[in-house]
Amino acid sequence: MAAFSTKTVSKHDDYMTPKSAWENIKHFIPKKKIWEAFYGDGKSGEYLKELGFDVIAEDIDFFENNKGEIVVSNPPFSLAPKILSKLVELDKPFILIMPSSKINTQYMRKIFSNNKDKIQVIIPPKRIQFNKLVNGETPKDFKQSCNFDCFYYCWKMNLPNDIVWLE
Ligand SMILES: C[S@@+](CC[C@H](N)C(=O)[O-])C[C@H]1O[C@@H](n2cnc3c(N)ncnc32)[C@H](O)[C@@H]1O
Repeated sequence: MAAFSTKTVSKHDDYMTPKSAWENIKHFIPKKKIWEAFYGDGKSGEYLKELGFDVIAEDIDFFENNKGEIVVSNPPFSLAPKILSKLVELDKPFILIMPSSKINTQYMRKIFSNNKDKIQVIIPPKRIQFNKLVNGETPKDFKQSCNFDCFYYCWKMNLPNDIVWLE
């Protein structure tokens, strides 16, 4: 089977997570079987493993698979409505890094406003600086100056508060 990452759907989807973004929230990630469902360059899954988690990270199509007990990932932002609907349909708890602007979308409202399990957010202490890939590589002139903020969107994670501000 061809590797999934060869089929990137949008130029806005290849933002790779730095290890610090997972270190920020390691105490909120349960010691369960984690599915890093959007493989990217593979490093995110490796970082989670280095932090001591039991991680499934495979270069496969999310929509054709169902692995692990919870999804912890940074997904392709352009597919957020489809991904969120699918995770709720699977009843799969998740922590997803996505732009903070997603909270205002109609699809978030539709999926979560009446869901018995509320969406909760963790707000990082400072803007996450992703590594951008173009055709699988970091552009030579790439500077880490991400121009959007993200939340960790959590569902069925039983956070102590609906909004957690990280120090
Ligand atoms: C924002 S990047 C993040 C990658 C990685 N999760 C990380 O945190 O570094 C999202 C990745 O999802 C991949 N992707 C897009 N559609 C996918 C799908 N249907 N199944 C699995 N991966 C997909 C893209 O190729 C992209 O590399």
